Amino acid sequence: MPPKKIYVIPEGIADAILPRVKREYRIMEKKKDDVLILAVESSCDETAAAVVKNGREVLSNIISSQIALHTVYGGVVPEIASRKHIEKINQVIDEALKEAGMGLKEMDAIAVTYGPGLVGALLVGVSTAKAISFASGIPLIGVHHIEGHINANYIENKELEPPFICLVVSGGHSHLVVVKDYGEYEILGRTRDDAAGEAFDKVARAIGLGYPGGPKIDKVSKEGNADAILFPRAKVVDAVYDFSFSGLKSAVLNYLNSCEMKGITVCQADVAASFQKAVVDVLVEHSMQAVKEYGLKKFAIAGGVASNSSLREAFVRECGARQIDFYCPSPIFCTDNAAMIGTAAYYEYLKGVRHGYDLNAVPNLTLG
Ligand code: KG4
Ligand code: ZN
Repeated sequence: MPPKKIYVIPEGIADAILPRVKREYRIMEKKKDDVLILAVESSCDETAAAVVKNGREVLSNIISSQIALHTVYGGVVPEIASRKHIEKINQVIDEALKEAGMGLKEMDAIAVTYGPGLVGALLVGVSTAKAISFASGIPLIGVHHIEGHINANYIENKELEPPFICLVVSGGHSHLVVVKDYGEYEILGRTRDDAAGEAFDKVARAIGLGYPGGPKIDKVSKEGNADAILFPRAKVVDAVYDFSFSGLKSAVLNYLNSCEMKGITVCQADVAASFQKAVVDVLVEHSMQAVKEYGLKKFAIAGGVASNSSLREAFVRECGARQIDFYCPSPIFCTDNAAMIGTAAYYEYLKGVRHGYDLNAVPNLTLG
């Protein structure tokens, strides 16, 4: 096949021809009041870029996942992640603009995750965004990664407005949050040790499922009996909304060791399903208690673990029983992506937030 021709549209081309050319080559028009944000995310093992219009319309969402690269090591290797981000980031940004049918000149801001996350990985996104901003004069907006996850809920739920309660469960974080307003959060509870996703990943490794653990446990659990083994549901004394998952992880390891010592064959699916149920029970119980105490009728979930099918089913059921509106992003907006960063940045943009070129990666950035 001959290579595809690239057409440069001359200025002043007849209006009659332009619409057809635009359709073919996805050259989008920007209306006067539209706010377009190019967003970049590189906090862990996904290099991502997106173009978001007016906060809730995703024009492109490009994600280059490094999962295959890290699988052989059983988890994310920070140094490898940073190097891969450097290789991919320009390509991913180019694709995001192309897919959106836009050029840099149409962008009102460039948004980037500046924390929390792996410092080397974050630096790639932050440096790239700063360089683009400096070279093009487009304002820069730094975004908190967890805020991005929460804001993912606005993308497909156009009617959702704060206040609401959100459970953020990812590989590095477990937070129960009151979203008081755009960009305004009150943290009710957080994990004392392992994050929910971390527990999924560690248990998956222990039962021989490998990395990434969450989706594999989710899948295998469908063949298992969730009531086969009673694993503990930990409570944190004096902090009703805090989580602790390290005891549960130890309980699974102890169970596996004792089976080995007794010569009992472990049923992988039963362990996975029973562990998953223990996590889901705790997340649901804490969340429903918060919803009740704060009297809010809207509840949302976010983060990689929010794509867990059993967790989603449990919340549909429990929220339904309490007449609470339940919101959850599609799985592609639960795991790391740049569209959610563009959405969070939009509300900051409206408030007038702009960052200087001293914006730095903050690996342990806190929320609220
Ligand atoms: O939000 P995310 O993509 O990255 C972080 O910000 O950490 O979350 C990744 C985490 C991993 O621990 C992964 O195992 C978990 O989300 N995860 C899941 C599922 N899909 C991803 N956990 C349970 N069930 C899933 N279906
Ligand atoms: Zn994340």
